[in-house]
Amino acid sequence: MIVYSDVCKKYGEINAVKKLSMEIGRGEFFGLLGPNGAGKTTLLRMTTTLTPLSSGTITIDGALIARDCAAIKQRLGIVPQYSNLEGELSARQNLEYHGRLYGMPRERRRRRTEELLAFADLGERQHDKAKTFSGGMQRKLMIAKALMHSPDILLLDEPTTGLDAAWRRKIWDLLRRLNAEGLTIFLTTHYLEEAQTLCRRVGMIDEGLLKKTGTPQEVISQAGNFVLEHFQNGETAQDFFQTRDEALAAAQQTPGDCKVREANLEDAFVLLTHKRLEDSHAS
Ligand SMILES: Nc1ncnc2c1ncn2[C@@H]1O[C@H](COP(=O)(O)OP(=O)(O)OP(=O)(O)O)[C@@H](O)[C@H]1O
Ligand SMILES: [Mg+2]
Repeated sequence: MIVYSDVCKKYGEINAVKKLSMEIGRGEFFGLLGPNGAGKTTLLRMTTTLTPLSSGTITIDGALIARDCAAIKQRLGIVPQYSNLEGELSARQNLEYHGRLYGMPRERRRRRTEELLAFADLGERQHDKAKTFSGGMQRKLMIAKALMHSPDILLLDEPTTGLDAAWRRKIWDLLRRLNAEGLTIFLTTHYLEEAQTLCRRVGMIDEGLLKKTGTPQEVISQAGNFVLEHFQNGETAQDFFQTRDEALAAAQQTPGDCKVREANLEDAFVLLTHKRLEDSHAS
């Protein structure tokens, strides 16, 4: 279990993460949702020991991450926001190289490379340089690389940003399979659909503050299960209701164009932060 207690990160005057406390259980699929600059990468980097905390603690199964660094690194697979592949090396060599860095013996390295090339469906392109891969293929290779040393926790920073819908779904399928096999997954995303489809629990972060955690349905219900959208003073306004009947009754009292629909995570996020998630990213 990963436990965050009062975690803070300051970069000079910037409070990137503010007194954040939460838990991620073993085998869980957790998604941290937030717009640009919310503190997602900072939190993930602190979890992987790449960025030191300003205050607070993060423990994994009771072990403090800063102190028990080497042992913990073996348990963590990391897919960063930007490519960490060696462009001049082939897919196979990238995996091999990572295995060597993690001290894996030659035979285990070879076996694991075969397994992961098959898992990521990269067998046919295994001898091509990583820099010749499409964005989606590179992302799959980054996931394979993160899995090379058989971690039990996989941390992914916006694993599908910039990918088209078809590739996004391929990545989702890989992640679902891994989670079904018991891997704990913690990803960051600004795609509400990604969080709503994949994650058993989500957290919403904005300007370094964790606003909410819970199952997608719990977070939505706290805002209201149904939304009445109406056009008012040149803007679309939203009112939340627990039942469709309540929303429909309110719609009858509302002049002009209006629509009742089920609420989603984006609605909950807007209500909490007055910001939209997906507009904030050019992808
Ligand atoms: N190395 C750094 N030095 C100074 N400030 C930093 C550094 N890294 C992050 N920050 C600041 O911390 C805040 C949070 O940044 P972070 O990268 O964690 O956000 P994010 O949620 O990952 O955003 P994005 O969706 O754009 O990747 C921002 O204000 C950012 O400018
Ligand atoms: Mg980021």
